[in-house]
Amino acid sequence: MPKTIKKIAVLTSGGDSPGMNAAIRSVVRACAYHNIECVGVYRGYEGLIEGDFKQMDARSVKGIINKGGTILKSARSNGFRTEEGRKKAFQNLVDAEINALVVVGGDGSFTGALIFNQEFGFPVMGIPGTIDNDIFGTSHTLGFDTALNTVVEAIDKIRDTASSHNRLFFIEVMGRDVGHIALNAGIAGGAEEILIPEEDLGLERLVESLNRSRTSGKSSSIVIVAEGDKIGKNIFELKDYVDENMEGYDVRVSVLGHMQRGGAPSCFDRVLASRMGVKAVESLLNGQTNYMVGLINGKMELTPLDNAIKGKTKINLELLRVSDIMST
Ligand code: F6P
Repeated sequence: MPKTIKKIAVLTSGGDSPGMNAAIRSVVRACAYHNIECVGVYRGYEGLIEGDFKQMDARSVKGIINKGGTILKSARSNGFRTEEGRKKAFQNLVDAEINALVVVGGDGSFTGALIFNQEFGFPVMGIPGTIDNDIFGTSHTLGFDTALNTVVEAIDKIRDTASSHNRLFFIEVMGRDVGHIALNAGIAGGAEEILIPEEDLGLERLVESLNRSRTSGKSSSIVIVAEGDKIGKNIFELKDYVDENMEGYDVRVSVLGHMQRGGAPSCFDRVLASRMGVKAVESLLNGQTNYMVGLINGKMELTPLDNAIKGKTKINLELLRVSDIMST
């Protein structure tokens, strides 16, 4: 029989993403709805170790559904990687009479949650929050949709100036290990070429493709480069390569950087966060632990945290083909 849960803690961890506030709001309100207490933990696992807790009620999360970032702040905690740190965190939770923990974050944060559960048997539940969309067990992570819209808006603006000056732009987008942002935003922004870590195009293919674009009458080009792509890893070297080896190109580089992580969450991310928070709380109340909530075929489903961490998200091959056809 699961232990009765009377108080749940929620924290946000790792790189922030738009929709984290909406998820906090949802967890807090779902707790209030089910007449249990909710505690917010500041600065992710750092706050867990330091006992930086704040009692939250339905009204304490008013006016945040539309805000980017996270009101609870976030951190990448080194302390929680140590047994000593995790022991302190456990003791703080016990002292505060907290019975379960909801972690909003990415795979690193989930790894910490899983180790914590294995060591202390403490119930944990994950909500996938990262703009990278690199977590197995959900078609969309929180913030991915908003980040895509931000990137597409930036590409549209850069295209205006690229076409006015007949220039080639390399635009770097986030995605340390995966190319989901690059591929989707690249198609939506009409990019001529998209470089992603999952598919090693090689320089030759890029050169070929740029030349093809030019001979087909294009006077300006946009190439989207995921930060983790092999040949795009140093985007300025890519520019140097084109400058040195290809004639007649006026090349510019634009690194979009952390602006991709900010801003008001899209409607999609707000709804997703609201659904995920409710599912996380109700699953814990049903005695489920060590799961991540996720969107699978339009439904809220649970995936064991272990699978969510180890499973790899695959790049959509159809999108790759569409992108090739669109750059004709
Ligand atoms: O994991 C999300 C992410 O935004 C990655 O795409 C990016 O590589 C990384 O975080 C940047 O991390 P930091 O904020 O520590 O620079």
